Amino acid sequence: MAELAVLSASVKAIVHGPLDKVISLVNKEFSLIYGFKKDLEKLRGSLVMIQAFLRDAERRPVGEEAVKLWLQKLEGVAYDADDVLDEMNYKILQHKVKLQKKVESKEAYEFGHQFHIRDVDAYSAAGAVFSHSIARSRETDSVSVDPNVLGRDNDKSDLVKTLMRSRDEVVSVIPIVGMGGLGKTTLARLIYNDERIKNYFDARIWVCVSENFDVTKLFAMMLESLTQSHVEVQGREAIVKNLQKAIGVGRYLLILDDVWNDKADKWGDFKRSMEGINTTKGNSIVVTTRSEQVASIVATLPQHFLRKLSEEDCLSILKARAFPGGEAPRELDTIGKKIAAKCQGLPLAANLVGGILRNKGKSEWMLILNEGLSQVNGDENGSSILQILKLSFDHLPTPAAKKCFAYWSIFNKDFNLKKEQVVQLWMAEGFLYSNQGSDVMEKTGIKIFHLLLQNC
Ligand SMILES: Nc1ncnc2c1ncn2[C@@H]1O[C@H](COP(=O)(O)OP(=O)(O)O)[C@@H](O)[C@H]1O
Ligand SMILES: [Mg+2]
Repeated sequence: MAELAVLSASVKAIVHGPLDKVISLVNKEFSLIYGFKKDLEKLRGSLVMIQAFLRDAERRPVGEEAVKLWLQKLEGVAYDADDVLDEMNYKILQHKVKLQKKVESKEAYEFGHQFHIRDVDAYSAAGAVFSHSIARSRETDSVSVDPNVLGRDNDKSDLVKTLMRSRDEVVSVIPIVGMGGLGKTTLARLIYNDERIKNYFDARIWVCVSENFDVTKLFAMMLESLTQSHVEVQGREAIVKNLQKAIGVGRYLLILDDVWNDKADKWGDFKRSMEGINTTKGNSIVVTTRSEQVASIVATLPQHFLRKLSEEDCLSILKARAFPGGEAPRELDTIGKKIAAKCQGLPLAANLVGGILRNKGKSEWMLILNEGLSQVNGDENGSSILQILKLSFDHLPTPAAKKCFAYWSIFNKDFNLKKEQVVQLWMAEGFLYSNQGSDVMEKTGIKIFHLLLQNC
């Protein structure tokens, strides 16, 4: 236990250094020039989150090997971040004179990219611990059932009409834009499964794109979605030919969920092939994205900006989550409204808070409102949802569940693990220790796995 506290303190010290550096770098005009102010801000977010976790680990020291391991991993992450930042500072000095004159944009681009800020593990570790559910780690599918989707009737009917009317181009592209947790994927799924859409399009394809926009891989995923069988590793030409066969000559609807690629040339490359694969007019692509920049690159039709839900809708989501299958007591109405207001129109926030309050009484609702949510104020950067995610992490019922969640989140976003594999790993790490044998451990693990999914 003492060792754990020492380790936690040492990670804390390590995090402090890079955090200061990030802050100073963010403030430097330099980062603006090279366009990675946003990246640095994200990194700062990750480091702040690591700090929050360390505070949590200190508050509830669980003297187990597993926590130590987790802290060690965070330590490694913090060091990685520190190295990158040191290198950046050094390079800034080195280039200062040059920068004051004029730097050609190509050089600037290469300069900015040699640091691979995006690759710093702090992203996938601490960042993903929170962004996990609002974000990129969860692979989506087209069939998942969204119970009680509220307040999206108009969005759905507008989009369905637009998709069925666009026959001027071979491929029309309509982006659904909005911040994480607003319900873009849910809306896309409503459209995809709408009966009119099913009748109108001869083929429907769902691809969860996430951060990795690799054109050949996208074609392979489309082919897999259409044929529902595994696509062997092949060159682009072979995959595209097979895709052409699978799509046929009828109209298709392609949903590209969660697109982050903001490189116009990559998108152009993808779209040109799509236009050649099937030359029938009236094909459509729906792109969901958080980024207006991405949306403006891909759009051929007006963008669909998703609005926040009303407070009443948030309250309904909250109640449905908190009292599954039952009625919420009337005495929670007033306080429920105040909590719903804190969800700021984000269905994900309402879901998370509702999960925390599952089957809880008035005193717990008061506590969450007055303490847990007191810092949550309106902003457009998604930081309030991070606070709500942290809150829901804090409220995971057992230390084992917390450790499992944290450990799971350490995996890179693109790392696909099956439920059984995750549980095996948790067992190997000793999170699920039980003296009743591995069967019991496995069952507990599976319960925790489902619990975590519920809480995300
Ligand atoms: N209109 C809605 N009514 C009720 N719940 C919703 C609604 N839209 C989304 N949700 C829920 O909110 C969460 C986040 O939605 P999601 O579609 O994944 O958001 P995004 O894709 O914008 O990040 C999911 O749990 C989803 O079921
Ligand atoms: Mg989504």
